[in-house]
Amino acid sequence: MSKQKIAHGDFQTPLSLAESCCVILGKKIAPQYIVEPTCGVGAFIAAASSCFGDKPTYIGFDINQQYIELARETLSNKVKKLQLECEDFFSSDFYESLLKKDGPFLLLGNPPWVTSSTLGAINFTNNPEKKARFKNGFDNISGKSNFDISEWMLEQLIRKFSGKNGIAAFIIKSSVARKLFQTFSAEKNIVAKFYRINALKEFGVSVDAGFFVLDLNQINVTSSEFIVYGSLEKNQEPEKIIVTTHGRLSDKKSQDSSFKRVAPPVVWRSGLKHDCSKVMEFMVGDDGALLNGFEKKVDIEADLLYPLLKSSDIANGRLHPRKMVLVTQKLVGQETDSICGMYPKTWKYLLEYGEYLDARKSSIYTKAPRFSIFGIGTYSFKPWKVAISGLYKKISFQLIGPVDGKPCMLDDTCYFIACDSELEAKSILKALNSEEYLQTIDSIIFWDSKRPITSSVLNSIDYSSHPNMIIDGSSNKQLSL
Ligand SMILES: C[S@@+](CC[C@H](N)C(=O)[O-])C[C@H]1O[C@@H](n2cnc3c(N)ncnc32)[C@H](O)[C@@H]1O
Repeated sequence: MSKQKIAHGDFQTPLSLAESCCVILGKKIAPQYIVEPTCGVGAFIAAASSCFGDKPTYIGFDINQQYIELARETLSNKVKKLQLECEDFFSSDFYESLLKKDGPFLLLGNPPWVTSSTLGAINFTNNPEKKARFKNGFDNISGKSNFDISEWMLEQLIRKFSGKNGIAAFIIKSSVARKLFQTFSAEKNIVAKFYRINALKEFGVSVDAGFFVLDLNQINVTSSEFIVYGSLEKNQEPEKIIVTTHGRLSDKKSQDSSFKRVAPPVVWRSGLKHDCSKVMEFMVGDDGALLNGFEKKVDIEADLLYPLLKSSDIANGRLHPRKMVLVTQKLVGQETDSICGMYPKTWKYLLEYGEYLDARKSSIYTKAPRFSIFGIGTYSFKPWKVAISGLYKKISFQLIGPVDGKPCMLDDTCYFIACDSELEAKSILKALNSEEYLQTIDSIIFWDSKRPITSSVLNSIDYSSHPNMIIDGSSNKQLSL
């Protein structure tokens, strides 16, 4: 694929798919204007014209002049009222004149499949950063480290046409559809529909995607719903209905669960972050000797060394630590100079490998004490933990106890609840492994996300609200029966 095709997120829609999408729209709308902001060679305009006939005006734009010419060649005989222009979405005013009309509008198509980080990697611009026209909302999205260009385009387009008589209907990734639903349902009640498609078959890419349909003028809607259908077939029951609670998305079914959904408590923590495993982590030889990532034997005081379990260990139930980690702070931001007087061998080691620690890229290290780590606090030193890996697409909770009297540390791709006692940890593990908790969490996890298990998903269920939990007076912690 050429760099330009990648930058333009160029996956032309097969005509048969565009036709199935238009059939789904069917009688929902009798559009006056059918607008495709990134029309490519015109599959959607061709399909729409078969479905909606000669009455509407068909308006298509694309950044690629050749596509506009091709579209003109194939469509001019077929479509009576046709306007095609080569326009860059980010610097065009096409919508302004349309906004003066009454509609009904059908905003239709398949926006570019590319993310801001891919554009950065290939050193191309096809995003709002350089060409922002739609100022509203840009600040929100440009603050994100990575975003889908289609999300940005559609958010702005839908905002512009919001309240007009019409429908927005686009093929997009499931994750983009969910984000759009989340954004707009936070502002007012809306109902959106999403018909899954087989992107591997249609576009040769393995992505969860579908046809997103949103009425632009939603009034008298009493609650927000995102209705997901398994395919583009007509007259089928929804696969699931996603609703919003406190701005979070969840399957409607989970509302019946006896586990309460909660607004952000902090119980699940992330593990230790140091971004320098070659220096900070050690294999332990049979003779007890420490070997760092440069395969060098290391002689440092034992006090700042802790057993370490990695995400792969947690996910695979390998709970006997094979590694140790150097923990230079007890709290985030604590100075690290005092290591010099208290642990001279550790200090010498840190100085010897200081250049690697200084070269850590993340900006969090720049203003922090020199040998800082993150994801550290009193909770890290609690003897018992209930943990899950955030790297794997499976729910598997593990009970982690101390090793040789020291608490285990977990890496920053793990999440855990810190516990004072084995009893407390076991009771929490029991609640988490209950069928009802597993069903509740399964209903709010989006397994098609890159990292489905996140602290916000975990923290959105109050594990202690299960009816089998009681309060243990001694520790003031909640225990399950
Ligand atoms: C996923 S393809 C879909 C094309 C067409 N809508 C279809 O359904 O077959 C995305 C299209 O967006 C166009 N495009 C990419 N960036 C654009 C921009 N900034 N302005 C207008 N069109 C753009 C590409 O040239 C490409 O034709």
